[in-house]
Amino acid sequence: MSLVLIVDDVAAMREQYEYDLKRLGGHETLTASGGAEALQMLEREAVDCVILDLEMPDIDGFEVLKVLAARGNRVPVIVYTGTGNYDRCVRAVKLGAHSFVDKREPIERVVQEVENALEKGRLVKEVASLRRQLGDDPALAGTSRAMTTLKATIERLAAIPSPVLILGESGSGKELVARELHRQSDRARRPYVTVNCAALPENLIESELFGHERGAFTGADRARAGAFEAASGGTLLLDEIGELPAAAQAKLLRVLEDENVTRLGGTRPIRIDTRVIAATHRDLDRDVAAGRFREDLLFRLNVHVVRVPPLRERLSDLPALVESFLVRTCDRFRVRLKRISPAALELLMRYDWSRNNVRELRNTVERMVFACAGDEIGPEDVPVEIRASKPRASAGMPPGAPSVGAPPVAGSLKELKAAAERQIVLAALERNGWHITKTAAELGLADHASLLKVMKRHRLKR
Ligand SMILES: Nc1ncnc2c1ncn2[C@@H]1O[C@H](COP(=O)(O)OP(=O)(O)OP(=O)(O)O)[C@@H](O)[C@H]1O
Ligand SMILES: [Mg+2]
Repeated sequence: MSLVLIVDDVAAMREQYEYDLKRLGGHETLTASGGAEALQMLEREAVDCVILDLEMPDIDGFEVLKVLAARGNRVPVIVYTGTGNYDRCVRAVKLGAHSFVDKREPIERVVQEVENALEKGRLVKEVASLRRQLGDDPALAGTSRAMTTLKATIERLAAIPSPVLILGESGSGKELVARELHRQSDRARRPYVTVNCAALPENLIESELFGHERGAFTGADRARAGAFEAASGGTLLLDEIGELPAAAQAKLLRVLEDENVTRLGGTRPIRIDTRVIAATHRDLDRDVAAGRFREDLLFRLNVHVVRVPPLRERLSDLPALVESFLVRTCDRFRVRLKRISPAALELLMRYDWSRNNVRELRNTVERMVFACAGDEIGPEDVPVEIRASKPRASAGMPPGAPSVGAPPVAGSLKELKAAAERQIVLAALERNGWHITKTAAELGLADHASLLKVMKRHRLKR
């Protein structure tokens, strides 16, 4: 069901439209008697379409369109005018209105326009979601056993609305799992909202989650919907839930139990239908034992637990991950697509990745792309701390992978020095815009010929 906001200063018009839209289109409606009220409502309600009178005494329709454009609010707006002046309608369309109707036209046409506008709104959201899927927001890569199990769990849990708790080390992909749960659910076209409980000061977190009424606290000069309301019908990710302050934990528990939310400073409970996903890298059982996290809240959140395995436990996914990061990095920085040599890959396979898991791998790939002058990333392009790390006991290529003649891993002092030298020279070149004389001077080399010799040794080409 869609929510349509009708804005008109004449009560009879509002009521007529409300009645007809419910009867003929089956839509939910909200009404506002002026521009200011409409703008306020649009800030807190998830409106799908607006019917807007152009002639109103306070803030008129044109002003409303301008403010919406400035806010980046892309809700489709149908304007109407009673004056029969089409120049005004054309002007409104130029300001971003979806279409216009005349007050004298039959209501069926208005309902049809609303349908068109809603369809457009749906398409805009779908395109945005597809772009995300293709662009910055990759699907979970990997086919290891751990990953296959994880994907099956996501598929199963996406279908139900209960809370999910995602656990996993830093950088292991918790956020990606949450998004995937939303994307595969029947809420996929509804909002997906994330609140990072660690990123907000204690006094703001409650208003962020639950919203506030005007005057609820100093500085609250307008009412604002919280994340629970914004995500109603969709999914809310409470990231870093382990960092939630005690008072907010108590409120969150109540919201989950009652399925409604009361804004700070408000008295009216607002019904919400928000699927809650919580994520943390912390051991919440230990936090409960230490009195830092409420046990009753944990029991509400951990109805279903998804554990994202650390990268070291699914190293057979590493080649596929490297491949996808190579494509994305080269594409993003518009450099020619590079490959990775088996020897360099072997070095990555022997590393532990426990510091930041997949995120660390992604950053490493980016560094290697820039360290490598040619088309193939070699062992010398692998960051020195990875080359220098102790080989893991069970390290090695995954079963079935081609065996390669890898160089010594931890590296001799000579090798490590060479790798460090290469990185130092490369960084200096980057800093000086690859100006040879300047870089040679910065590095204290005798002349530019000495630098060219070093660059040649390290296969660094201008
Ligand atoms: N299986 C995967 N396939 C592709 N990319 C992945 C995968 N897992 C993680 N990533 C990427 O790794 C990075 C870190 O992932 P994400 O932000 O989901 O981790 P996190 O567990 O939420 O980390 P933190 O605990 O630091 O919040 C992101 O860029 C994400 O796109
Ligand atoms: Mg995260």
